[in-house]
Amino acid sequence: MTEHLQPVQPEHHAAIAAWLDSSDATLRWAGPGVAFPLPPGQFAQALQLAERPGWVLLDEHGQCVGFGQFWPTTSGTMHLGRIIVSPQVRGRGLGRALMQALAAQASGSAAVERLTLRVYRDNTAAIALYSGLGFQPVDADSTGELLFMACSRP
Ligand SMILES: CC(C)(COP(=O)(O)OP(=O)(O)OC[C@H]1O[C@@H](n2cnc3c(N)ncnc32)[C@H](O)[C@@H]1OP(=O)(O)O)[C@@H](O)C(=O)NCCC(=O)NCCS
Repeated sequence: MTEHLQPVQPEHHAAIAAWLDSSDATLRWAGPGVAFPLPPGQFAQALQLAERPGWVLLDEHGQCVGFGQFWPTTSGTMHLGRIIVSPQVRGRGLGRALMQALAAQASGSAAVERLTLRVYRDNTAAIALYSGLGFQPVDADSTGELLFMACSRP
């Protein structure tokens, strides 16, 4: 794999914010309370990067092509969120590379037993991606709109 994961830097904020093309897409990606357009200067605060560290996937040229966050929730669980790939390079396997790298990073501590995430039920591309990586729906924690998915540490 030529792509690699690294902690997000301020220089990446504008590029990632530019991947969002509407307030609806921003709401679905980030949850409520995140402005569209998202000013790069507000990126870190809006996404709570201090509590929920962000990571970027860089391609072989050092271009930022993906972003995601993870943070601890219940004991032994890391929750992944704000997963996104640059619209210009979707469908080329980078979403899978991003998720595999994030999952490995999130599972760095032996204390982590489970990875979780939430995804809109109509987001068929993301659900196919997550299912292919071993995430399974948890009906008890899902809603009519949002599917809660979990997998054992990779
Ligand atoms: C979801 C997302 C991250 C996938 O990224 P991607 O780089 O296009 O995904 P990949 O090319 O790595 O594809 C991996 C798998 O995802 C699924 N997938 C990707 N695009 C798909 C599409 N348009 N339709 C159906 N399945 C799709 C497939 O299972 C694919 O595996 P395959 O190539 O063996 O069929 C990307 O579409 C995205 O950023 N969407 C907007 C933000 C978002 O919805 N994030 C998820 C929040 S929970």
